[in-house]
Amino acid sequence: MYVCVCHAVTDRQISASVAMGASTLADLRDELGVGTCCGKCAREVRQQLRDELGQC
Ligand code: FES
Repeated sequence: MYVCVCHAVTDRQISASVAMGASTLADLRDELGVGTCCGKCAREVRQQLRDELGQC
């Protein structure tokens, strides 16, 4: 599923980045470009990051 439409980034790509060590929104922004255009995906990316890292 696309999470960031502006950069065509999927939830799987985000999962793969987290598995490779990304642990912050800034890491994902630098790696995948999420949140760098309209910014509408930032909330969903942040939520996925929390889920992936097992944070509340
Ligand atoms: Fe991610 Fe626009 S949807 S920057």
